[in-house]
Amino acid sequence: MMNPKNRLNDLSAQDWLRFTKTWFIHNPPRRKKSELLHPAKYPEDLIAEFIQFFTKPGQIVFDPFLGTGSTLVACHTTGRNGIGIELQKKYADIARQRIQQLESQQKLAPDGSKQVCRQLVLQGNSAELEKMWTSHSLPEVDFVITSPPYGPMLNKKGLATQEREEAGLDVKYSDDAEDLGNAASYQEFVQRLVDIFRKIKLKLKPEGYLVVILQNYMDKGEYQTLAWDVGKELGKHFQLRGERIWLQDNKTLYPYGYRYSFVPNVHHHYCLIFKKVGFKEVD
Ligand SMILES: C[S@@+](CC[C@H](N)C(=O)[O-])C[C@H]1O[C@@H](n2cnc3c(N)ncnc32)[C@H](O)[C@@H]1O
Repeated sequence: MMNPKNRLNDLSAQDWLRFTKTWFIHNPPRRKKSELLHPAKYPEDLIAEFIQFFTKPGQIVFDPFLGTGSTLVACHTTGRNGIGIELQKKYADIARQRIQQLESQQKLAPDGSKQVCRQLVLQGNSAELEKMWTSHSLPEVDFVITSPPYGPMLNKKGLATQEREEAGLDVKYSDDAEDLGNAASYQEFVQRLVDIFRKIKLKLKPEGYLVVILQNYMDKGEYQTLAWDVGKELGKHFQLRGERIWLQDNKTLYPYGYRYSFVPNVHHHYCLIFKKVGFKEVD
């Protein structure tokens, strides 16, 4: 039975409480062949949990870095409408195929009706989302969830990338200059990312939430505190409400630095949670 006083979601009190714990373990299942090409897909079940906490059925979710469409798959299974933008045609095509396949398998409701929710895949640059919003007459969205490129990190070589390269899989998204992963420096990357989220803020309804999934990482001997830096910078434009730490316990441990230096196997991600509230923009 839904509680009419619950303004945010349709969860039971128990499920609400469970979600507020600041860490969880999630081991992604093995990926399907069509999804393997992409270097950094996130698991749909994990995203579905966030969607079920931050929205009610029928509301609209947006992902500005859609990749292979996992957010829209989670929207489909949870009965939400989804909009996603992905720069690369090859990934946008995978996302469209995944949605089409799900929609074609969808069972009819008892009254014979089909397809209550819509999933929209747009191919383009999220830095230009204003144009896409106008040309498709898109509405305000209720919730934003995404994992952007994790800094210029995919452009560095390592033991893990070597294995993907040998298997003929992508180790970076593209050579496209508009791809945030190809930003010239770490500082430029953070700035461009924050600029995109400031544009997104204008499309998010008041009191709406934004969840950004990121990692800190080691690059050329320097530990880049990407999740913390983005938390600080975005916190100037949204209210930072906290974090949920996603622990992955099924990844290969590589002997980075073995016998000479501590080098971490980073097997956790930060799911940073922000809210659009009525405080003034800081420039
Ligand atoms: C971490 S991946 C997202 C993966 C996605 N969550 C999934 O499950 O497949 C980041 C994606 O952002 C895309 N991207 C990079 N720069 C972009 C931009 N300026 N606009 C839109 N997409 C961009 C990349 O091509 C990549 O697919």
